[in-house]
Amino acid sequence: MSRRGLQEGRGLLVEKKMNIPLSKVYMDDAIRKTVLEVLDSGWYILREKVKEFEDKFAEFCGVKNAVCVSSGTAAIFLSLLALDIKAGDEVIVPSFSFIASAAPVIQVGARPVFVDVEARTYEADPEKIREAVTERTKAIFPVHLFGHPANIDAILDIAKKNDLYVIEDACQAHGAVYKGRKVGGLGNVGCFSFYPSKNMTVCGDGGCVVTNDEEIAEKIRMLRDHGRREKYVFDELGYNFRFNEIQAAIGIKQLEKLPSWNEARRNIAKMYNRALEGVVTTPVEEPWARHVYHLYVIRTKKRDSLSEFLKQHGVSTLVHYPVPIHQQPAITGALGAQPTLRITEKIAQEVLSLPMYPSLAATEVEYVSEKISEFLETR
Ligand SMILES: Cc1ncc(COP(=O)(O)O)c(C=O)c1O
Repeated sequence: MSRRGLQEGRGLLVEKKMNIPLSKVYMDDAIRKTVLEVLDSGWYILREKVKEFEDKFAEFCGVKNAVCVSSGTAAIFLSLLALDIKAGDEVIVPSFSFIASAAPVIQVGARPVFVDVEARTYEADPEKIREAVTERTKAIFPVHLFGHPANIDAILDIAKKNDLYVIEDACQAHGAVYKGRKVGGLGNVGCFSFYPSKNMTVCGDGGCVVTNDEEIAEKIRMLRDHGRREKYVFDELGYNFRFNEIQAAIGIKQLEKLPSWNEARRNIAKMYNRALEGVVTTPVEEPWARHVYHLYVIRTKKRDSLSEFLKQHGVSTLVHYPVPIHQQPAITGALGAQPTLRITEKIAQEVLSLPMYPSLAATEVEYVSEKISEFLETR
């Protein structure tokens, strides 16, 4: 055992009890204060704070409109509705993602067509997308998985040639950059989540649709609020997927810190990379990408035993994702058995997410990395 993680205890060297979580939500007095101010204001839903947060988030993403909704899943669902995707349509989706990248497609009556990912980046493989296009295809749904941007130019090219929409799932990629442009504003619509583990949160559920298209933005504003434009005039059947003032106030504060947090995540990733290169498969950052490391995901064939070993040494890990979407019971139940996706199925057996959050200390990164090396050297 290395000396790191050891400390003196009753004259003996004993291992210091480590407790390193997978992710951690930032909290400070400015956030607490802003929440109390909203509580005292007497205004709670879709008021000034929501408008302010939407304007600031749109500016951050480099788009004209941001419409906040109750979750990332609601953002995806409403985007599909706003683009009139419905029964008879197909949407091309990478299977290596969270279920919410695909379930809303089925919920609007359309069919997700699952494609494999690139083994290097875990992003949808443009060649596989090209092969999956049929006359029923209405949209491509790239996921900027783990904070690394998908290969958008290739995807936009397929979309243009086949007259398809591109809906970006940017739920894990706040501030990620593709060739100098932030993700979310690259396709027709971008969807974000503010769930607590994300690069920025509203300390609860929350989401946002960003778009340069005024008509789509207006449609989503209506659909999130019972389909109305005026207080008691309902133009179409909508939903209650609204956003509230407390969430917006927290979001404003979190957004201010997001650039420095993303920088901190990148530095932590560099430290992990240096320590783990040649030990496990480390994440790739394409030359055209600015990865924001929502998750730091390694790969090893000994994934399950390594995860157990790290747990015994006070390090939390998680598998994103052990069962690809096309093999989930809810999906095969709804659509029937799906074709094999070789790379997706292989990496689902090997991926492991290590602790990653801006305040993770260099000594903690070293400790986690040393434990990984120690485990793999001895098995
Ligand atoms: C890739 C991806 N898509 C969609 C979602 C759904 O977001 P939410 O949990 O806010 O509904 C998430 C969040 O967990 C996600 O990681």
